[in-house]
Amino acid sequence: MCGIIGYAGYRDAIPEIIEGLKKLEYRGCDSAGVAVITDDGLWIEKREGRLSRLEDYLNGKPQATIGVGHTRWATHGIPSDVNAHPHVDCQGNFAVVHNGIIENFSPLRRWLEQKGHVFQSQTDTEVLSHLIEDCYQGDLVEAVRNAVAHLKGSYAIAVVSPKEPDKIVAVRKDSTMMVGIGEREFFLASDIPAVLARTNRFYVLEDGEMAVLTPTGVRLSSVVDGNEIHKDVFTVDWDPIQAEKNGYPHFMLKEIHEQPRALRDTMRGRIADGRIEFPDVQLDLFLQDVQKVFIVGCGTAYHAGMVGRYLIEKLARVPVEVDIASEFRYREVLWPEKSILIVVSQSGETADTLAVLREAKRRGVKILAVTNVVGSSVAREADAVLYTWAGPEISVASTKAYSTQVLLMYMIAIFMAEQRGTLPPEVITGMVKELAALPDKILQVLECSAGVEAITGKYHQASSAFFLGRGLDHMIALEGALKLKEISYIHAEAYAAGELKHGTLALIEEGVPVISLITQDDLQDKMMSNIKEVKARKGTIIGITKEGMAKIIEECDEVVTIPNADQLFTPLLSVIPLQLLAYHMAVARGCDVDNPRNLAKSVTVE
Ligand code: AGP
Repeated sequence: MCGIIGYAGYRDAIPEIIEGLKKLEYRGCDSAGVAVITDDGLWIEKREGRLSRLEDYLNGKPQATIGVGHTRWATHGIPSDVNAHPHVDCQGNFAVVHNGIIENFSPLRRWLEQKGHVFQSQTDTEVLSHLIEDCYQGDLVEAVRNAVAHLKGSYAIAVVSPKEPDKIVAVRKDSTMMVGIGEREFFLASDIPAVLARTNRFYVLEDGEMAVLTPTGVRLSSVVDGNEIHKDVFTVDWDPIQAEKNGYPHFMLKEIHEQPRALRDTMRGRIADGRIEFPDVQLDLFLQDVQKVFIVGCGTAYHAGMVGRYLIEKLARVPVEVDIASEFRYREVLWPEKSILIVVSQSGETADTLAVLREAKRRGVKILAVTNVVGSSVAREADAVLYTWAGPEISVASTKAYSTQVLLMYMIAIFMAEQRGTLPPEVITGMVKELAALPDKILQVLECSAGVEAITGKYHQASSAFFLGRGLDHMIALEGALKLKEISYIHAEAYAAGELKHGTLALIEEGVPVISLITQDDLQDKMMSNIKEVKARKGTIIGITKEGMAKIIEECDEVVTIPNADQLFTPLLSVIPLQLLAYHMAVARGCDVDNPRNLAKSVTVE
């Protein structure tokens, strides 16, 4: 996720900005840049790579007391010097840094180019500097207000200009931005920890609010009418380490809680008039006449692929094979004509997944990547890419990357169903509505965290645990078991509940926790029988079920209830208590939650 810092005060601005950016670098940084106002005008330095690379180029930097800086995590355009922020207009008068995504940047860019503006980068952000140039008539604040009126999407923006050298103008919509209040100095920060060393007093900007920072003060106003806004100062009492995690004790918990936001970002610009669309990718051509879909991934990404298989087969009626990348690459796969391969990878660098991609490419199979990292190998080598937009995931255990991958599986399946005419339009509209409602429902599910923690208090000393489910619930059970093993080191196995009696039941004895997912209405009675089988062997049932399943709830020793939802859409809700269960178990067992033993975030070796 990109980071923004601004400084207006009496100190040397560049070191202030760099110190702030250092605190944001953990969120992901593939390039960085600064822009300051000097006596000679705008001075900009920006470089691809880590922040330390930018620092190497700051020797002999000019003195300035006003400026902005940015760490970029690429969305539009590969990581490169030219795509790094700040971006400027044709005359180099307006320097802009931006977090978020400008959805309508393509038509805006075309329109500005027709008016004679010349673009340097591939980014969505650059339209902003040209828009401001176009709107500027002697008042920077007005120009920014008029420019953002053209935008669709999410943004936190900061602008500096030598035409009005004493100010930074900032605006936000759907992307965080704070104003730090110091003594004769003011800071702009996309995240509180960035400037906590200088101040703990903040104005938290809301959507549609604008801030103008000068060395003597801050003016807050509404973007819509320009009227001044007065708001309370928010005082932060977190310690700096906690602050990096936004107050959460671990990145994993922070990332679990980021899921409603992440899912909204995945859907942003991809839902219109009750339909799914992928404006950046010609997916209709890509998927035309497809006869078979293969999906590969590793670990959590493979589990997302399993949900994808279920959905594509059910909704779009295309046969799908899903496999673990490290197995798939050594199989003698039969590729029917008109097959496509979907590779799922958070990092886009997993060696086994990449090997499958390359082999498929060699055979002339078209490849669609579902990944989180722009410019990653998977993204570069695939024929088409759908980004998950989860933002950087720091914790080794994947949470928000998984849920955004699963969400994209829904979106691909619904898109294909429409394209192939396998579902009537009103059913598609209903499904899209269900998807759009998920972030709010996840917010509700997250409220179960304390309840889940209380449950783990009773079972964290268990040496093994089982996860059961049928249909979609089985796929979520697999992910729940992986999470628990990975971070709490408890031996955990997931089974399709019907398989229990074919061997696994022998392992159930008094007190063994059996986490049972029961969200599929049509499989409820079958699950009830499986629960009874476990209870007859004195196993302990921890049920993850949805509102209204009263009969099942009575049978469980512990229950976590998710809000009612169509059974097709429960996976993105039922996985949340499982992530929390793994998290609280790991904490209770004193494990290193974010960096589990023997594991790496990105597995770039076979
Ligand atoms: C999940 O919690 C894991 N850390 C792991 O299974 C991961 O999903 C797997 O290594 C694949 O990584 P990728 O998505 O970056 O390809």
